[in-house]
Amino acid sequence: MKSLLSFLIIGVVLAACTASPKSSTSVDKKIDSLMALMTLEEKLGQLNLPSAGQFTTGEAASSDIALKIEKGLVGGLFNIKSVAAIREMQQIAVEKSRLKIPLIFGMDVIHGYETTFPIPLGLSCTWNMELIEATARMAAQEASADGINWTFSPMVDLARDARWGRISEGSGEDTYLGSEIAKAMVRGYQGNDLSASNTLMSCVKHFALYGAAEAGLDYNTVDMSYHRMYNEYLPPYKAALDAGAGSIMASFNEINGIPATANKWLLTDVLRNEWGFRGFVVSDYTGVMEMVEHGIGDLQEVSAKALEAGLDMDMVSEGLLTTLEKSLKEGRINEAQINLACRRILEAKFKLGLFDDPYRYCDENRAKTEVFTPANRAFARKVAAESFVLLKNQNSLLPLKKTGTIALIGPLADAANQMSGTWSVATRHHESVSLLKGMQNVLGSNARILYAKGSNLDEDAQLEANATPFGKTLNRDPRPANVIREEALRIARQADVIVAAVGESAEMNGETASRVDIGIPETQRDLLKALVATGKPVVLVLFTGRPLILRWEHENLPAILNVWFGGSEAGDAIADVLFGDVNPSGKLTTTFPQHIGQIPIYYARKNTGRPLGQKKWFTKFLTNYLDVSNEPVYPFGYGLSFTTFTYSEPLLDKAVMGMNESLTISVDVTNTGSRDGAEVVQLYIRDLVGSVTRPVKELKAFKKINLKAGEKQKVTFTLTKDDLSFYNADLQFIAEPGEFHVYVGGDSQQVKQASFTLK
Ligand code: BGC
Repeated sequence: MKSLLSFLIIGVVLAACTASPKSSTSVDKKIDSLMALMTLEEKLGQLNLPSAGQFTTGEAASSDIALKIEKGLVGGLFNIKSVAAIREMQQIAVEKSRLKIPLIFGMDVIHGYETTFPIPLGLSCTWNMELIEATARMAAQEASADGINWTFSPMVDLARDARWGRISEGSGEDTYLGSEIAKAMVRGYQGNDLSASNTLMSCVKHFALYGAAEAGLDYNTVDMSYHRMYNEYLPPYKAALDAGAGSIMASFNEINGIPATANKWLLTDVLRNEWGFRGFVVSDYTGVMEMVEHGIGDLQEVSAKALEAGLDMDMVSEGLLTTLEKSLKEGRINEAQINLACRRILEAKFKLGLFDDPYRYCDENRAKTEVFTPANRAFARKVAAESFVLLKNQNSLLPLKKTGTIALIGPLADAANQMSGTWSVATRHHESVSLLKGMQNVLGSNARILYAKGSNLDEDAQLEANATPFGKTLNRDPRPANVIREEALRIARQADVIVAAVGESAEMNGETASRVDIGIPETQRDLLKALVATGKPVVLVLFTGRPLILRWEHENLPAILNVWFGGSEAGDAIADVLFGDVNPSGKLTTTFPQHIGQIPIYYARKNTGRPLGQKKWFTKFLTNYLDVSNEPVYPFGYGLSFTTFTYSEPLLDKAVMGMNESLTISVDVTNTGSRDGAEVVQLYIRDLVGSVTRPVKELKAFKKINLKAGEKQKVTFTLTKDDLSFYNADLQFIAEPGEFHVYVGGDSQQVKQASFTLK
């Protein structure tokens, strides 16, 4: 009798789920019939996301995963790599569990998969939306070929505090640029058919305001006005969802007193009611149980709070799985809340086509032929080169000649395992290209390369160990700093030019890698000083995942190329730029301060009632510091090229723009140098008078153009009312009539200005 019953159940489930979803209503019906068969426990199982444990960022609560899958107590898995491993788990779900509901498989596919692209902050410096979309597309292609169907990306947290290590994982300080990149990433991952076997469902993170942690300390408190949230911090999340992202991750931080994971205002009022999001919400790693430490209840209580607030899936805490039955019995929550969350997870699985074919993403042949291919790696090399930002190039020291003797010195010079930067869980680190290897590849036998390490990452062995986890060691040299340095100096003195590869290690930024002192570590700075003292020209190749304080470097070194962490092909790409095969075109997406005390420093600031304006620093009773000017070392949007560009005055098609009209701005950009190059033409506005104060500049449009040496191109932008609108004190999105300035230029400071009136 029992086996007949289960046979019948299986028949109904298969009939309910296998046919392709024709319309959302037919999917709804299938979910209805499936949920009618589910026990409460099985419904809670769908809300449960354990980690399979191959790579973790905290203590996991789940154990006996296989057994749980068999009992229908698991909705999805992450931290699991390879088709074989994923197939094995899926098999348990669809062959051994009662209702045979397939699992969803997630991973942090953040900046590429095995073929690894620059860290997101670097990628953002390309300002090339097609390119960024293509990187996400390729990442989806590779990851889906390897069994994955869900990625915890894009990370769209706006960040203006370079102490925060995770600034490396986002797109920088700007709302508009961040939103454009968010859309491009989602388009790339999801394509236009989520059920295709080569697309991934995207999970936007970390909702919300994670990048605004107090003091740049990871996981720290966020307390922010609604006005600032709506105008500056929330738009990138909304942009990603409007682009169709299927899921979103609640952030670790509290927002105005309530942790995001149980924040009903955030997860229901804003996300569902205002924005109309229909996908599902997953917690961050142990986000549910961390609310016990936040101090808003025990696991029983915080789990109920999370569900009530609108959380659908629990990453790793098993709070929803283990406590909600009791809360239901006690009337603390209701069944409709559980059903809603369960339905959203099942819907995602339908969208991914998993009910049609749970092994849709488990094609061993694809895994063998589509991952880390020569073509993908060639593309990653091109992308990396486009992400580098040339910060200084006195007397055109760069590009270097491919002849003579070149000394390559520094702890990051021969460090393949560092090249991909943070969050590169699928990267084949030992096959990544170090700078030394890249230079050898590009130079062949034309030039002589001499190499020495020159210094450790940091004098403090413990700090270095903390900054080189996950086996990504820099093979610390036990000798005293001056001995390591002297060895390098002997080599440097024999060279025509010195390339110094210094900066942060891959994990000196990223999660729980906040720093209070964001300079190049002192022992490396000492090395730089000694190299400069040789009298040889020194090119600083800077590895970093955050804006660093580079005041001394800017004043004392002739050339600085910021290469972030360029990905698996970084070394080749750096050599491409150093030796002139590629002309750099990256532009900063975060401000580089001159002093840590200026943080938070960002270009879209407010004027204050006592602006310094054009007045001389220091002026008493104006907005300035006694000990340092307000200027950054490098502003937002800044980056040099091996060629030069000039801008004409911007021309507007009208002086007065009606509310329902559009405004066209055009500018001629000329390549005035002797090399072909690419320029990011940036357009900013300022709304001079508002019902609330408005930023002194806001990016509203940009175009990246290629110009041959000597070529001139007209670049045209169109602004509409939406571009001039903002959230007022009542949080209404409106444009207010009045005077506006328009600025066009190659960075946020070097601009030409025009004006118009909005009527
Ligand atoms: C991070 C997330 C990540 C998750 C899963 C957490 O520690 O904050 O960004 O997606 O781990 O690996």
